[in-house]
Amino acid sequence: MNVDRYAKPESFQMTARGWPAKQIERAPIWNAVDLRDGNQALPDPMTPAQKKRYFQLLCEIGFKEIEVGFPSASRDDFQFCRDLIEKNFIPEDVTIAVLTPAREHLIKKTFEALKGLPKAICHLYIATSDLHVKYVFNKTREDVRKMALDGVDAVRREAEAMPDMQVRLQFSPEEFTDTDMDFAVSLCDQVVEAWEPAEDEKVILNLPATVERRMPNEYADMIEEFCRRQRHRERSIISVHAHNDMGCAVASSQMTLLAGADRVEGTLFGHGERSGNVDLVTLALNLQYFGIDTGLDFSNIEEIRDEVIELTAMPLSPRHPYAGELVFSAFSGSHQDAIHKGLSGRDKLAADFGAWKIPYLHVDPGELGRRYEKFIRINSQSGKGGIAHVLESDYQVRLPKTVLADFSPYVQRMTDQTSREVHSQEIWDLFNRCYNRPEGPLQLENYWPRPNNQEPARIDAEVHVCWQGEKHVLTATGNGPVAAFVHAVKQLSLPEFSLEEYEEDAIGSSAEAQAVAFIRLDDSEKRQWYGIGFDQNIDQAAVHAIVSAINRMLTE
Ligand code: KIV
Ligand code: ZN
Repeated sequence: MNVDRYAKPESFQMTARGWPAKQIERAPIWNAVDLRDGNQALPDPMTPAQKKRYFQLLCEIGFKEIEVGFPSASRDDFQFCRDLIEKNFIPEDVTIAVLTPAREHLIKKTFEALKGLPKAICHLYIATSDLHVKYVFNKTREDVRKMALDGVDAVRREAEAMPDMQVRLQFSPEEFTDTDMDFAVSLCDQVVEAWEPAEDEKVILNLPATVERRMPNEYADMIEEFCRRQRHRERSIISVHAHNDMGCAVASSQMTLLAGADRVEGTLFGHGERSGNVDLVTLALNLQYFGIDTGLDFSNIEEIRDEVIELTAMPLSPRHPYAGELVFSAFSGSHQDAIHKGLSGRDKLAADFGAWKIPYLHVDPGELGRRYEKFIRINSQSGKGGIAHVLESDYQVRLPKTVLADFSPYVQRMTDQTSREVHSQEIWDLFNRCYNRPEGPLQLENYWPRPNNQEPARIDAEVHVCWQGEKHVLTATGNGPVAAFVHAVKQLSLPEFSLEEYEEDAIGSSAEAQAVAFIRLDDSEKRQWYGIGFDQNIDQAAVHAIVSAINRMLTE
């Protein structure tokens, strides 16, 4: 390995930094660049109708600044901008931004696209890294400075020619993180001075990590240093725009917020050139987790996700934080057990910790419109906790520990055989196939328990069964309805067995709740046979469970 293979950006020295000790205290101004940076990087750019829907979606989520295109570079972008304006599609509280290079004729074209708007952001950019200045433009830094300032003048002339539109200037020294700091600061100062913002106006200085070449902490250092050194902090909004080449765009953006950034540009789910822009969904929901009101609404994240997938024709990783299909699922047995316990005791945990805290679930999936039932999924790694959770959350059946221990190897066998995730319905079907066995050598037709005339504490049972194809009416007495039933069926030619366990529970909480009974019979060889039964009436549920266990004992 050649450790000197890659030229690193000039190292950036900072002696005293304040940002590591800070906390993010408020949400930044958000600017969604999905329709420009995002759309230009899609293998199949969106159609005008799709872009319109996407724009609407961004407005619904709550974005107030949306960059809608690069009108001087593409006819489609020009037309899209015109359509938004002419069809009155832009809500009053939303400002659109358009991107333009610092070239007079392109700036003119950009303003043509904006005609008729009451307000807009004109986003002027020029690359300022030596890599670009020398090797792409074949120019000097001073040439670039002049081009940028000429660009500001051109924007100002165009804006003055359209006095009905309130134009705000955004300037991006492209490749800021690979640009000499002195040059970036002096150029941005001159841009603010050339624009001469009104008293109540600020120039947006967008300082992008166009290609992620640095660690997030260095981006933050650069932002803090820029803010410290610029002459016009009060007259500017510091904006960040992180790309994700090293996979750190969210971390970078968070750290730059600590370092003083006021505004963040990015895209939903991180669409954008190469490995994308910063993902605003993850970033905003991280801030929400820290207790910050972001002004963005992701309470229906699955719908947003599915719509963006459809509009962009790009898949989303099932492990995407917050929106991925698997991110609130647990397959591992120990995780399932912990989540099951955490969710079952969530009120107590909330009281003890003062807020939501559940093992393995850092946020409440319900807050994003995601359902708890899907969170525990069963495969060969899963354990008893997962099985218990699925049966409890999807079918309201709480298994006694002993039944769970008996059932778990059946599930294990199934997941080993299928070598895939098994669904809740399959677990339920397997559970019923194993333990709920009304059909078999013994079938119950009717069971009437009633208090004994002489000793009302004892129960007389009349049992109608079909045993090996023949009908029988059996009577017996016992200490309770279950014991009376056992005495009655023991009159049939059944193998020896004893009733060892009996538990009952309600399914649901209404007066109409069904009962479920779990029983265990042991045969003469001490083999254990569990059975379950369901009925409106608990005694009937118990005798169904006994019949199920007997049928298992006779046929397995
Ligand atoms: O990544 C970038 O630097 C850009 C600029 C145009 C802001 O998209
Ligand atoms: Zn970009």
